[in-house]
Amino acid sequence: MKNYSILICPKCKSELERKDNSLVCKNNHCYDFAKQGYVNLLLVNQKNSKNPGDDETMINARDLFLKGGYFSKLKDEITKQIVGSNLTILDAGCGSGYYSFGLENFGDLYLTDISKIAVKKASVNKNAISFVSSIFELPIKDKMIDYILNIFAPKPQSEFLRILKSGGKIIEVVPGKNHLKELKNVLFKENLRENQEKFAYNNFILEKSQKLTYKTTLKNNNDIMNLSKMTPYWYKGAEKIENTLKNINNMEITFDFIINIWSIKM
Ligand SMILES: C[S@@+](CC[C@H](N)C(=O)[O-])C[C@H]1O[C@@H](n2cnc3c(N)ncnc32)[C@H](O)[C@@H]1O
Ligand SMILES: [Zn+2]
Repeated sequence: MKNYSILICPKCKSELERKDNSLVCKNNHCYDFAKQGYVNLLLVNQKNSKNPGDDETMINARDLFLKGGYFSKLKDEITKQIVGSNLTILDAGCGSGYYSFGLENFGDLYLTDISKIAVKKASVNKNAISFVSSIFELPIKDKMIDYILNIFAPKPQSEFLRILKSGGKIIEVVPGKNHLKELKNVLFKENLRENQEKFAYNNFILEKSQKLTYKTTLKNNNDIMNLSKMTPYWYKGAEKIENTLKNINNMEITFDFIINIWSIKM
């Protein structure tokens, strides 16, 4: 049985209840499930554009690339960080929900993203409750969540602090300095200097920080193209990137991830 009771109405903040094919609050605000099984809890005034979040090109590219299994080691490492049973787990900024498969074995699973296209994809995981919302204004009651997955996604400090239980943790994944270095070398020739600011969650302790680095050879142009569409570089010059990469069918790539576990300061 899916547990909807942690969700609140984005308009009036009162509890949502499942009634037939909708979530409804006591003030009769009603949110219908789409046929794919997700529900849109993002209000028009919470949007900063018509279709906020990653667009279809980025989401499809990420989805296809992840289905190729290139990040399966990362998925395994993320899963290993979760300890316990009857847990409540939220993937915040879930994209296509790749990291969520199997996590239902730990308890109740919730997937959210501000991009409707992303949530539509994520909702193929029928063991999760999938909803569109902004990570900066989550329609979730206070102190409900044991684990938040925060994988290459925005970092809303106070909102995460609000929804986590007192022993709750954030599993954050960020790119390390060698992440995709070969792709960057091809695209930018000169060394791309990225601003790798050290980020810290206020009111959280960094319990553990672990690196995961490995090399893989991408053996066809589709994978190379999809990987580049997943990066922020794509929108800095899609046409130029497409031209640079169009005849490359083989590329060794370094994946360099940092997995951080944050727990609330007591
Ligand atoms: C780089 S993708 C990562 C997706 C997924 N975590 C993964 O690693 O496959 C970042 C995601 O954050 C989402 N996002 C951006 N701003 C957001 C916001 N304000 N609220 C919720 N999601 C947001 C995007 O739509 C996108 O799906
Ligand atoms: Zn309401």
